[in-house]
Amino acid sequence: MNFQLKTFAEYEEAYQKSVSDPEAFWAEVASEFKWRKPWTKTLQWNFDEPNVKWFQGGKLNITENCLDRHLETRADQPAIIWEPNDPHESGVTLTYRMLHDQVCRMANVLKRNGVAKGDRVCIYLPMVPELAIAVLACARIGAVHSVVFGGFSAQSIADRINDAKCRLVITADGAYRGNKEIPLKSVVDDALIGCPSVERVVVMTRTRTPVAMLKGRDVWMEQELKQVTADCPAEEMDAEDMLFILYTSGSTGKPKGVVHTCGGYMVYAAYTFANVFQYKPGQVHFCTADIGWITGHSYIVYGPLACGATTLLFEGVPTWPDAGRFWEIVDKHKVNILYTAPTAIRSLMSFGLEPVQKHDLSSLEVLGSVGEPINAEAWHWYDDNIGKNRCPIVDTWWQTENGGILISPLAGLTKTKPTYATLPLPGVQPVLVDENGTVIEGNGVSGNLCIKFPWPGMLRTTYGDHERCRQTYFSTYPGMYFTGDGCLRDEDGYYRITGRVDDVLNVSGHRIGTAEVENAINMHTGVVESAVVGYPHDIKGQGIYAYVITEALPADHDADLTKRDILATVTRVIGPIAKPDKIQFVTGLPKTRSGKIMRRILRKIAEGDVNNLGDTTTLLDPAVVDEIKAGAV
Ligand code: PRX
Repeated sequence: MNFQLKTFAEYEEAYQKSVSDPEAFWAEVASEFKWRKPWTKTLQWNFDEPNVKWFQGGKLNITENCLDRHLETRADQPAIIWEPNDPHESGVTLTYRMLHDQVCRMANVLKRNGVAKGDRVCIYLPMVPELAIAVLACARIGAVHSVVFGGFSAQSIADRINDAKCRLVITADGAYRGNKEIPLKSVVDDALIGCPSVERVVVMTRTRTPVAMLKGRDVWMEQELKQVTADCPAEEMDAEDMLFILYTSGSTGKPKGVVHTCGGYMVYAAYTFANVFQYKPGQVHFCTADIGWITGHSYIVYGPLACGATTLLFEGVPTWPDAGRFWEIVDKHKVNILYTAPTAIRSLMSFGLEPVQKHDLSSLEVLGSVGEPINAEAWHWYDDNIGKNRCPIVDTWWQTENGGILISPLAGLTKTKPTYATLPLPGVQPVLVDENGTVIEGNGVSGNLCIKFPWPGMLRTTYGDHERCRQTYFSTYPGMYFTGDGCLRDEDGYYRITGRVDDVLNVSGHRIGTAEVENAINMHTGVVESAVVGYPHDIKGQGIYAYVITEALPADHDADLTKRDILATVTRVIGPIAKPDKIQFVTGLPKTRSGKIMRRILRKIAEGDVNNLGDTTTLLDPAVVDEIKAGAV
């Protein structure tokens, strides 16, 4: 990892170079990886179509970089440490040699079941080693993985499988999450009723829940693994071949499949991992995200393994069996780098210091935060009680579409400031723009955050719908990638992300579109219309507030039960993560004469700020606002 910067001066120098000569800069970084054939053109791009290609002509396989490359130097070093949900169950440590072996075997299982280069594979697994192994097995043979987070419903899985026309699904009988058992295979069975592209389902055993196994379609992973060898040469991939699809929510319609490609993503995930966390050989890196999200893809699997790191994979939740679970893991595995989300920190803060004090946290050297803005109180609690004021905190801002971290301190190098993501990484050129698209220069300003130059880890398209990619990210401000986030740049040139400026919610670090939740609520019988907004929530960051209009209900109807029914429908359609925290029944919504819902007013009411509603004179029926105010929950 010669590309690891060691001082702030080196960061400044790298940044300058990355802007003045981006191609030379990234070519030098990329040359540290194993390429079967070197690239012929480092970068080709325009943000109009958009068309972005990095390292064209280069041939590689990301698993040769994450696994084979390390066998000579660190075959017996732990690659993955797995900590199960239940602290009394013994975990597993896989060395690089063992991981290589298991990935090759799983890759052969996929081949045996008809998966070929370019095919899409849906992975719906708990946080067990097999999840990382399945991801890498796909990459080994050039199949495109689409990991679906275990908290999504059958309907959401079906939508994702159908959008990508997945040929095979990898799942488990069930999953443990805290004191809950989730019947994964049964959820997949429900999903597959409407998924004609799926030919095979590979099922691993985790919870020993009885499952239906359909002859000709479903096979047991354990039995399949017995039929194969550990010899699986890596498929040669073009730098711009698809590596994976990951679905994420936007402000309109169904979630879209963000596409990342092999070469650029690998280079960017590894570069940012080594630099942001300042990873040193031998350290244990614990990223608490689920591999079902981009954070898990880049900073549990690909980034750490590409750098030859030891990555910890945790199956459970922070509060079970008690709120000391993270700290117990840190102590037990001598974790050096802890990377988690503000919502987890806030939730653990509420349990006080006792669960923290029971454990030795002296191994910690670097703390990270990701997924949503971190409030000052949580930042200081993390700094004081977890890092004991001796561990730099990296507040890392980025998105599914970015592949890796874009704005963040480099641990120990960049001077931090609570609630600030601080400075852009080398290769990242942020700009702030006003509503009219004019670039706002200078410091002490705020605006909408755009990026004006490509970086290797950026999305290339949205699967099956390139126009949607152009529309969503490249049309608001022509010539720039629009992030959807608001941001301020202070007098020191430090960036602070203030949150989404579009109709995307961030609930416990999960990204959810208001339109998606509304569509789900509207599917409930008797619902005429709904409007969903976010409101500040102490633990989740944002909570979901739904205003719902129903058909006339019988006088004796049980409003509370109807609310719970609506929650059940949302859980069915999207999953439990999208359940509204509050539902208010209303008879009308504040609409303009052209029929547009004035969300600004609904947000104010949800926030409890009812005396500051601003101008309501343009409303079709201003009286509706008084009714909503009076009934706010
Ligand atoms: O609003 C920003 C917020 O999370 C959004 C991206 O969500 P997702 O694609 O699910 O990826 C999350 C993990 C990479 C962003 O548009 N966000 C992410 N990190 C931060 C953040 N907001 C403030 N500070 C952060 N560090």
